[in-house]
Amino acid sequence: MTGVTLTAIRKTYGTRTVLADINMQLDQGELLCLLGPSGCGKTTLLRILAGFETPDSGQVVINGQDVSSLPPNKRRMGMVFQAYSLFPNLTALQNVRFGPRVRGLGTTSEQTKEAQRLLAMVGLAAHVDKFPHQLSGGQQQRVALARALAVQPDILLLDEPLSALDAKVRVQLRSEIRRIQREIGITTVFVTHDQEEALSISDRVAVMNEGHVLQMAAPAAIYRQPADAFVARFIGAGGVLAGRTSGATVRIGEIALPSDAAAAMPSGTEVEMFLRPEHVSLHDAPEGAPAGSVAAEVVDLTFFGSLSRIKLGLTGAPTGDDAGSGEIWADLSSAAAERFVPGTKVWASWPSGAPRVLAR
Ligand SMILES: Nc1ncnc2c1ncn2[C@@H]1O[C@H](COP(=O)(O)OP(=O)(O)OP(=O)(O)O)[C@@H](O)[C@H]1O
Ligand SMILES: [Mg+2]
Repeated sequence: MTGVTLTAIRKTYGTRTVLADINMQLDQGELLCLLGPSGCGKTTLLRILAGFETPDSGQVVINGQDVSSLPPNKRRMGMVFQAYSLFPNLTALQNVRFGPRVRGLGTTSEQTKEAQRLLAMVGLAAHVDKFPHQLSGGQQQRVALARALAVQPDILLLDEPLSALDAKVRVQLRSEIRRIQREIGITTVFVTHDQEEALSISDRVAVMNEGHVLQMAAPAAIYRQPADAFVARFIGAGGVLAGRTSGATVRIGEIALPSDAAAAMPSGTEVEMFLRPEHVSLHDAPEGAPAGSVAAEVVDLTFFGSLSRIKLGLTGAPTGDDAGSGEIWADLSSAAAERFVPGTKVWASWPSGAPRVLAR
């Protein structure tokens, strides 16, 4: 059984704290994505896991063993980097065979057979004798994946392995990585700053910012119950309304929006209300609109193909930041959205539990 436990990991460069007290536990066979903006510490954390970087303090435990003081080659990790990490003078097969060869895993013919098997698994059976420059970027990353798996690692670490590839290849390859990862059942940490990538392939996602893990949970939980305003903004799209709690409402100037979450906070708390665009319905008139619908005006309409996104301002909302402000977004099928041209007056409603209300 191989799980990973990180305890109180801290890393500073000079006076800059890059990782502040990271604690996490991964289950055997789990795929965890580290997701966060550039510079938040994702690569540093991955390098600490791999043993390329030493934390100032804290522990890395793999498979029940404290590996904090072990060098990378004693940690049974397979790593895939962003790009261009293959040996240019070796064929695909030789690249994959390299690790086992250096470590003396099996006989030469066993190493070759295993490399062929792995290359077939990543869909490159017909390309084993090609050199990296004869392979596309996506194919090179498949070789890199096969090479990482060839040393029979306990943990697979991937640092933005798809970021150099075009959108279509990215989507294809990420689901393939997920398929292979599941098939082998290997515990995996996948670094990305692409939230769609993280949400679509992970068992859990750790959202990081400025050296902290803000939330670590299943993709749907991260999307539906973001732990704080940073996570709510960073994950998914949506409208944000800023206001103050007043009893069981969020007040934006004279507008009072019912909210159970507000009821649990002291009145007068400055909050933001996050509303996903798929939760917002639009109505032509107050008659027929659900109770609690609010008057709004279309400010913008963006065509995305099958869907269109309508941005709305609350009618009568103050414009200053202090008193509260913001936008509501609604996603409609493009056919249904067509008539909501900017300037259209509408009534907007959403299920009462839908908005996430978080302190500012
Ligand atoms: N060897 C180093 N010396 C000094 N500062 C470093 C070093 N390595 C990383 N940093 C700093 O630590 C911070 C975190 O870097 P890290 O590479 O972990 O970020 P990241 O989340 O992987 O970002 P990106 O998405 O851009 O790859 C950055 O501010 C970076 O400048
Ligand atoms: Mg990085």
